[in-house]
Amino acid sequence: MVIPPSSPLRVGIAGLGRLGRRHAQQLALRTRGARLVSACSPVAAELEWARGEFGLETLHADFDAFVHDPQLDAVVLVTPTALHAEQTIAALRAGKHVFVEKPLALNVEDCERVEAEAARHPRLVAMVGFVRRFDPSYAQAHADVLAGAIGRPFLVRSQTCDRNDPDGFFVRFAPTSGGIFMDCSVHDIDLARWMLGQPRASAVFATGTIALHEGLRPLGDVDNGLAIVEFEGGQRAVFYASRTFAHGHDTQTEIIGSAGQLLVGRDGARDRVVTCDAAGVRHQVVDDFFERFGLAFERELQAFVASCRGEQAVPLALADATEATRIALAITRSLRSGRKESV
Ligand code: NAI
Repeated sequence: MVIPPSSPLRVGIAGLGRLGRRHAQQLALRTRGARLVSACSPVAAELEWARGEFGLETLHADFDAFVHDPQLDAVVLVTPTALHAEQTIAALRAGKHVFVEKPLALNVEDCERVEAEAARHPRLVAMVGFVRRFDPSYAQAHADVLAGAIGRPFLVRSQTCDRNDPDGFFVRFAPTSGGIFMDCSVHDIDLARWMLGQPRASAVFATGTIALHEGLRPLGDVDNGLAIVEFEGGQRAVFYASRTFAHGHDTQTEIIGSAGQLLVGRDGARDRVVTCDAAGVRHQVVDDFFERFGLAFERELQAFVASCRGEQAVPLALADATEATRIALAITRSLRSGRKESV
């Protein structure tokens, strides 16, 4: 159903933490065709923030009341990962379009339950936030791959590396995030499959180390992790995730093909300025993923809203989110077992 241009899609947001606040600002101030009409959080101070920032009057501490609000057309879920599947299912049952942050769930069974529920509501959009697909550079690289620019792509080498956070936000976040591979590399996993033509993974091997954050040890997590993935068609991927970089946020990817390779985001460069002086040759680096992917977050929510309005096809399939979780789980098993694991 196409919503007339004069009537905005009425959107509610659940979760107003680190990323939820950014998404709320996008929806309230910069997303065409949408109006942010309500927010949900169990934290009263977060709801007060939404009231003060956007003048929102409909605020819910209770998710059930939020999701059944008849004034809503769509919800954006930026809640802890362990809640994603149940909340997505509840929203679909309540007749709302859903945007849910990555990863879709921490186990495959929950992902498949979401897929099954979405299949029962074919008129509703259910989209997972794999933001890199909306980054102009990654989108260009994907278009180039499809156009045959590097021949047959067979290897993706991709890293997601954050600047060290001495406060250890992610250590507190780790018990619910699924670990470094589920939390960070899940982006690289989706990206690799996207670039390689959505192959299925057959086996993985992972290892890692704790360079700085001992608090991760009891959780079976690491602050630097490496993984190799074998795909059924013979393609391969190598992932590196770090929480401890000194210089900034450094997400970069190589897509290697039979007739060339593409490099995206080399050395975390903030812009195209390179300073050459007596101290050497250098450039500035982005601080964090918000700075690197700010435009992509904007385009991602714009695409979700346009899909709900019937103006474009949904750009991402839930099945890809299920595969990303399946691969991230196998990688995490391998990290813990020290052995190659089947996917
Ligand atoms: P956070 O811990 O800062 O925020 C979580 C929010 O959810 C808080 O506002 C909390 O009050 C709220 N919340 C908790 N229980 C709730 C409930 N039952 N109903 C409604 N709200 C509830 O976490 P952060 O960093 O904002 O991450 C949230 C999600 O976003 C995670 O799944 C994470 O994987 C994803 N994320 C994705 C990124 C990307 O690059 N696409 C980057 C950062 C996070």
